[in-house]
Amino acid sequence: MKKTVLITGGAGFIGCHVVKRFVRQYPDYTIINADSLTYAGNLENLRDVENISNYIFEKVDISDEKAVQTLFQKYQPEGVIHLAAESHVDRSITDPLAFVKTNVLGTVNLLNEAKKCWGTDFSNKIFHHVSTDEVYGALGDTGLFTETTAYDPHSPYSASKASSDHFVRAYADTYGLPVVLSNCSNNYGPNQFPEKLIPLCILNILEGKPLPIYGDGKYTRDWLYVIDHAEAIDIIFHKGKHRESYNVGGFNEWKNIDLVHELCDQMDLKLKREAGDSRKLITFVKDRPGHDLRYAIDARKLEKELAWRPSLTFEEGLSKTIDWYLENQKWLRNVASGAYRDYYDNQYNQ
Ligand code: NAD
Ligand code: DAU
Repeated sequence: MKKTVLITGGAGFIGCHVVKRFVRQYPDYTIINADSLTYAGNLENLRDVENISNYIFEKVDISDEKAVQTLFQKYQPEGVIHLAAESHVDRSITDPLAFVKTNVLGTVNLLNEAKKCWGTDFSNKIFHHVSTDEVYGALGDTGLFTETTAYDPHSPYSASKASSDHFVRAYADTYGLPVVLSNCSNNYGPNQFPEKLIPLCILNILEGKPLPIYGDGKYTRDWLYVIDHAEAIDIIFHKGKHRESYNVGGFNEWKNIDLVHELCDQMDLKLKREAGDSRKLITFVKDRPGHDLRYAIDARKLEKELAWRPSLTFEEGLSKTIDWYLENQKWLRNVASGAYRDYYDNQYNQ
């Protein structure tokens, strides 16, 4: 079926995998990638699809009401997959307003334009809001986040994402807008900006720099390979029930320190360094303020209702991820230059 799908944030880490999947799997769809190309957006991520005829890129800042209006008037998309966001917790601690602007205002601009564009004809329309498990707050040593866990965000990032989730549901309840939400755990894989734990450690191991572990390293995250998340988004976009949320996770919890040990050991093997070399770079540093102890997703609703499961074990996914960074060191060093260096110095060398 022919359809126009607007994907926001498609030049970022997860967005580029979603765009590539949709462009290739759905040749009858026209895929519009709207991205403002912040430090985290990179058109290099989309080189293999940029010349395919059903792909169009538009440089648009979603916090700009007029620009979003023009975008919807021009393409009149039937589907929206909304990924554009400021996504890094540490940056949200130093600049919360940027997160309110993009994550809250930007989301409301998109909802308003979808509402205007679709009027009362909701057949074949869907607004898929891509969100995070961080909206649920922090778990103790046990328990899992389910779709009915109460929201309890702690960082400016998670507060802005929680706010955007509430707006999405409010537009469904108030105006009948067809929406679906997904809340995912930590993603890893190719094309992730090296401010996040795994690519940051890969880059620092390559450069022989310290691997900064916040606090005691016992913080726990649930990790999912990004390509599995892209598949989950595809399934939820096409088959998810309106106004429902789906938790997406890897059934794969790791304490940060154990994860970094695994990464160091795989890197030593791949780089033919002596066993234990990379672990020597581990450095415990000042903790992240308001650091959530543990996230763990119960993704059984998605598994039972829409038959999705992660395809890779963590060890396999991590191995593929390291291989990608080793083969794409130019990409890694390009994105880690310039403004990133200032950010890095400010974050770790004060
Ligand atoms: P990212 O930071 O890698 O990419 C974000 C993209 O959004 C970039 O291309 C950036 O240029 C674009 N963008 C930022 N502000 C914009 C604006 N005002 N207008 C238009 N485009 C803008 O983020 P990511 O890790 O790929 O995350 C994508 C989405 O998934 C986010 O909504 C995030 O909250 C959510 N999410 C991420 C993870 C994760 O582990 N990375 C997990 C769960 C949910
Ligand atoms: O849970 C989903 C979230 O996962 C997404 O919504 C966010 O967009 C994404 O950035 C990610 O958030 P985290 O804060 O969990 O990811 P990050 O890679 O920044 O950190 C992972 C863990 O590692 C966390 O406990 C903090 C710790 N950490 C991180 C960095 C960058 C360190 O110990 N040292 C570091 O240098």
